[in-house]
Amino acid sequence: MGEGNTPLVPGMDGNVSFKLESTNPTGSYKDRFIAAELTNVLLQNRSVCVATSSGNTGSSLAAYCARYGVRCVIVVNADAPSGKLLQMGAHGATVLGIPEFVTSPEVTQAVFATLEAFTASEAASLIVSAFKYCPVGMSAVKRIATEIVAQSPDVRHVFVPVGGGGLFAAISAEMQAIHPQARVHAVQPEGCPTVWNAYRLGLDTVESVTSTTRISGLSVPFDIDASLALRLVRSGGGQVIPVSDAEVFAAQTHMLRREGIYCEPAGATALAGYRRAVAAGSIAADEHSVCVVTGHGFKDPQSIEASASDSGVRRCDAANLTGILEGMLRGVLR
Ligand SMILES: Cc1ncc(COP(=O)(O)O)c(C=O)c1O
Repeated sequence: MGEGNTPLVPGMDGNVSFKLESTNPTGSYKDRFIAAELTNVLLQNRSVCVATSSGNTGSSLAAYCARYGVRCVIVVNADAPSGKLLQMGAHGATVLGIPEFVTSPEVTQAVFATLEAFTASEAASLIVSAFKYCPVGMSAVKRIATEIVAQSPDVRHVFVPVGGGGLFAAISAEMQAIHPQARVHAVQPEGCPTVWNAYRLGLDTVESVTSTTRISGLSVPFDIDASLALRLVRSGGGQVIPVSDAEVFAAQTHMLRREGIYCEPAGATALAGYRRAVAAGSIAADEHSVCVVTGHGFKDPQSIEASASDSGVRRCDAANLTGILEGMLRGVLR
């Protein structure tokens, strides 16, 4: 449906560009994954998919399943953002919302175990956007790195948001293969520090956490692709950069107000990491950096409302319309 070949847009300040994965058909990079993985499902003559999702995999799967006549059931956390839920429902998916899914490691692991057993016994496909479950689909995500290098051969740093770690793993592995002079950095919310904890403690294994982050898409409380991501951070010379939810929301406001880019919080997380790295002096601000903007603002209207609270529509009542309107226009121009 036109997934991939997304624009790389120069930022307004500093030597940073934005890779707009939000311009994919359903508004996130997951379309690259689903287009490839669903092809694989169809090649296996399967007609039912079961997916776990924080929202974007589900939105994408629902759209592609509608188009290719595949039935899908999507398991999400009960309070996934409304834009993502609306997309799934609009395309006719069956959606199950489970409290504490993606925040509690026990609940999340129990859901995965049930789905793994069910899909194995029913010859249905289990769709999870991670190398551990769906390596064929995830390999298509590597193209983000290929495109970045083609669009900007001078790229020195790439900042990638991390939830389960698969997205980072795809970009980092490909970058190490084709353009090793660039460093790919993993930006993870402090409230879900799976990769960050292992990195800062020098461990080789990733421990489960109880996630408290409110950044939809980046809450994955146990190791799915996190150890893979950790190995690739180390082999590629990248950093793991923890960011607070407040820093992510501030970066999202910057994207909206300064860059004119409408993105969900996870889509602004790379920028939050870039800002931390520049502030800490761990990257040189004059070296070209790319932030991967993974998801569209329409996905999570509530997060946008928070950024927009001090502006918005001013009412102009019909009585004395001309007078009020003129006063307002003069006020804006002043
Ligand atoms: C918008 C967005 N950004 C980033 C991610 C993180 O990807 P991963 O779980 O592979 O680390 C997700 C995952 O759902 C996402 O939806």
